[in-house]
Amino acid sequence: MKGPRGTQDLLPGVTEKWQYVEEKLKDLSSRYNYHEIRTPIFEHTELFQRGVGDTTDIVQKEMYTFTDKGDRSITLRPEGTASVVRSFVQHKLFGSPNQPTKLFYIGPMFRYERPQQGRMRQFVQFGVEALGSEDPAIDAEVISLAMNAYKELGLQSLKLVINSLGDKESRDNHRQALIDHFTPVKEELCGDCQSRLDKNPLRILDCKKDRDHEAMQTAPSILEYLNEYSSSYFEQVKAYLDVMGISYVVDKNLVRGLDYYNHTAFEIMSDAEGFGAITTLSGGGRYNGLVQDLGGPETPGIGFALSIERLLMALEAENIELPIDQRLDCYVVALGDEAKIQAASIVEQLRLSGMKVDKDYQDKKMKAQFKAADRLKARFVLVLGEEEIANDLIAVKNMESGEQENIVLEQLVSYLKGII
Ligand code: HAM
Repeated sequence: MKGPRGTQDLLPGVTEKWQYVEEKLKDLSSRYNYHEIRTPIFEHTELFQRGVGDTTDIVQKEMYTFTDKGDRSITLRPEGTASVVRSFVQHKLFGSPNQPTKLFYIGPMFRYERPQQGRMRQFVQFGVEALGSEDPAIDAEVISLAMNAYKELGLQSLKLVINSLGDKESRDNHRQALIDHFTPVKEELCGDCQSRLDKNPLRILDCKKDRDHEAMQTAPSILEYLNEYSSSYFEQVKAYLDVMGISYVVDKNLVRGLDYYNHTAFEIMSDAEGFGAITTLSGGGRYNGLVQDLGGPETPGIGFALSIERLLMALEAENIELPIDQRLDCYVVALGDEAKIQAASIVEQLRLSGMKVDKDYQDKKMKAQFKAADRLKARFVLVLGEEEIANDLIAVKNMESGEQENIVLEQLVSYLKGII
């Protein structure tokens, strides 16, 4: 049997990379004072219909939705923001004195997409959400955190693209301009875009099929429709990025694939050679209005998410090796029945004292046990034979220097702790 299409098994050797990256992301989050939130992997379908938006590809085509035995419509979460906002409202986190509420999450998301490199049906997102502040400085903070998530792992070929989607008034004006622009060529657009024209014309700008249509190149840009507040907000975000030394390019066609965005929108791309067809590493933006749409008080919000899969791809494309230490501290080689029994007790003591230790469980000959120790990159090989047992000793071989010493068994733990 094989796992379902678009999923993967992470095996030992690879899981260590994931753990390393996840720890780095958690550490980064805590330095920015974001705290972890864990929400369920499935939610009521309505949450995503209302949160992500009925006209998005995610909701229309990509959700894993099923009816449970209680006849409820349930969906495996396709993203984290809607769930975080649902939880923020349900637990009245807006009532806490510490505002804005700064949260991060790491966990699997599910989208029924056509799998290819960097596009999975189950993938892991790390994301942050800051709720309760409409200060352009926090937009810059979230962007800074996103950029540093990559930079601190050593990535260099990064491109930050930003745009503003404006507030409701700006968007309404832009929407009308888009309708006026695309209506004369409606028949030439794909079926999806024809219905987007009525329901959500902004989505047309995100269409992959009609990307090369002439009308796409000449479509009115939201930036021309920003009212004074939106335009000044965007200028301030850029000014903060400037003082923080974060370089960016403005792309007026960046619209993002989810409906909840307004004002700041951004994506981070890899421009490393050999990265592959999908170059977007992460994306995010501001979503004032989402908390209210999900039944909470008017609360502004901004966040972003990246997938670990694409982050690891980017590391590979830039030939970055993570400093993962998989070495064992000790491998205990035992020869003879009595030694085997003693070895079990020694291994137990060493492990309890905090060392990474292993031994043979396959009745291997001495040479094969040494080979195993070598494969596991043990720093010390501890040899216990009949003679050692008779004298209450154990031979300790330092595999780096080749030096060997006999140590009194009782002093083994303190001896090793002193040098490891
Ligand atoms: P998104 O752009 O849909 O935004 O996804 C964010 C990131 O998740 C993408 O840039 C990509 O790295 C990764 N991703 C998405 N789909 C896949 C896939 N099928 N396979 C692998 N990686 C994938 C959101 O999800 C928003 N919730 C981000 C956000 C948070 N906005 C505000 N707060």
